[in-house]
Amino acid sequence: MTQLDDVKSRLDIVELVGGYVQLQRAGSSFKANCPFHQERTPSFFVFPDRQSWRCFGACAEGGDAFSFVMKADRVDFREALVRLGARVGITITDQVETGGRSQLLFEINDAARQFFQRVLAEPEAAFVREYLRGRGLDDRSLQTFEFGYSPARDNRLLAHLTNAGYEPQTIAEAGLARETEDGRFYDLFRGRLMIPIRDWSARVAGFGSRALDDNATPKYLNTPRTPVFDKSRILYAMHLAKEPVRQHGAVIVEGYMDAVMAHQHGFDNVVASMGTALTEHQVALVRRLTHRVTMALDGDPAGRNATLRSLESSWGVFQERDQRSANQTGTSVLQQPEALDLRVAELPPGKDPDDFIRHSPNEWTGFIESAAPLFDYLLAALTERVDVTSADGRSWAAQTMLRFVAHVPDPIKRDFYLDALAAHFGVDVATLRAAMPMAARQGGAGRRNNRAPATADEATTLPDHHGNAAEELVLKILLQHPDQFGEETVKSVRPEWFARSENREILRYVISLMEPNANDGDSVAPELEQHFQHLLDSDPVLSTPSKVEGALKQACLRLKREHSINQNSQLAIAMADEDLEDPDSTIASLWLESKNSLREIDLLRQPASPHNR
Ligand code: CTP
Ligand code: MN
Repeated sequence: MTQLDDVKSRLDIVELVGGYVQLQRAGSSFKANCPFHQERTPSFFVFPDRQSWRCFGACAEGGDAFSFVMKADRVDFREALVRLGARVGITITDQVETGGRSQLLFEINDAARQFFQRVLAEPEAAFVREYLRGRGLDDRSLQTFEFGYSPARDNRLLAHLTNAGYEPQTIAEAGLARETEDGRFYDLFRGRLMIPIRDWSARVAGFGSRALDDNATPKYLNTPRTPVFDKSRILYAMHLAKEPVRQHGAVIVEGYMDAVMAHQHGFDNVVASMGTALTEHQVALVRRLTHRVTMALDGDPAGRNATLRSLESSWGVFQERDQRSANQTGTSVLQQPEALDLRVAELPPGKDPDDFIRHSPNEWTGFIESAAPLFDYLLAALTERVDVTSADGRSWAAQTMLRFVAHVPDPIKRDFYLDALAAHFGVDVATLRAAMPMAARQGGAGRRNNRAPATADEATTLPDHHGNAAEELVLKILLQHPDQFGEETVKSVRPEWFARSENREILRYVISLMEPNANDGDSVAPELEQHFQHLLDSDPVLSTPSKVEGALKQACLRLKREHSINQNSQLAIAMADEDLEDPDSTIASLWLESKNSLREIDLLRQPASPHNR
């Protein structure tokens, strides 16, 4: 949960607004004379269930707690957040700093990247260039992957960066330096081959580094976890592989050198999990682009168990995600994602993709195509590992596979897997079903409801906040296709359709960019940066300009409609309090008006397609 959500979840709008105006109860809502314009009879309402407010009078405006404070106190989004945070005991200033802080850390990393690259060209680093050549890397790969060398002595990086004006403390925070007990700083990376690691948005988030002497330990040393670097949430080479992955599916290898060698040979849909067992966050990244994911596992059995366990859990998580989005009606503007197709290809013993591609590049494509679906791969791997002719062995293997099947929320698919297991182990399906972990037997839905999102990240990256999916789609489209839409189109998207203040704020920003004298220095509030990046980065699901335009239109209509329905139902609530017989009732006439506009919107909406009539 972001600080922003945290603030929101602790606020009560009735209490908040009640501090500004005298509220009277009106059915399930509250009303007051509008604080924003002069009036004698109340047309300002607060709706506790939606945590929203609306003026049906001259303002004809509404929103949530943030927009209320922005309007009432005449402050910007950030200040409203600070004030609301203070109300509920959350200090916001920290995060304001973090936003700018991340920026600074990326900047330092990039400066370091350039420095390492320059040092690689120095005479001192001739042996490193020799080493790279010996590994079969060509000049283009060295450029593309921005290899560098960290000087072995004199803390030259620190000297360079402090000269450029960065504080040693900040350099340490970026993970490039360490501080000794007595407060001196030294370079963390010394005498190593430096491999910049760029994140999804191509920012230098950290470094991998390799020892150049085979006896030196550790062989690989990475940037420690920093505010901008978390190895488990980044896939190496992803920033280069997006388009190829979208076209051909993703191939995930384990090592840096594996990915580099693959790209050098034109297999540019290859990304690396950087040694750790593939995490669900990493699967989530590729899942934005494709449903076809092939893991190319090194032919070395060490660490294989961890890999399998992690595959089991990512597979489970994604089965559930896919199921959830399939259940989500009303997101018709989004393409229905195809179920995750996770496959595994295992290299011959002692080989990794780097060796394999260097020696037999022509066989790589066939090798990847030979990958087995994860289920089949696991079944074969388990059967190989235990003696399935013994009762214990067979039971263990079956139980392990059942854990895996238990992750499948779709009962039809689950039965399919159970049948396969029954046939494989020569056991009755009923027996297997009975042996399945309890929760799974009760069916997917109940299980999902009992399950909290695995992580906060999962909760924020999913289109879970139902009503906001269309808002976010509109923003994604506008942000990701900046050149496609002119001022008129952009301005036809109305902030008042947006229920979530964050989205509204970002829309205002997008609209402000259309102004002829827009200042490039303007940016979104730092608290919104993360959300903004998410919108900018995620799911470019639409392939052609006309699809993009169509999706924008549909999403706008949907928002407009939701807005009207909202307004309509809020009016209905308000009306319960008014004298309906009174023909002059402004609320009654507003209600009629909004009903009519709803009808018009419905006429405009796409007619149902023939097959779902
Ligand atoms: N790795 C790591 N830290 C380690 C070991 C490995 O981050 N201590 C990651 C690196 O991303 C590395 C990958 O795991 O590329 C695979 O490790 P390994 O198989 O040991 O290395 P290779 O890529 O085969 O390295 P090389 O060919 O350079 O020996
Ligand atoms: Mn290797």
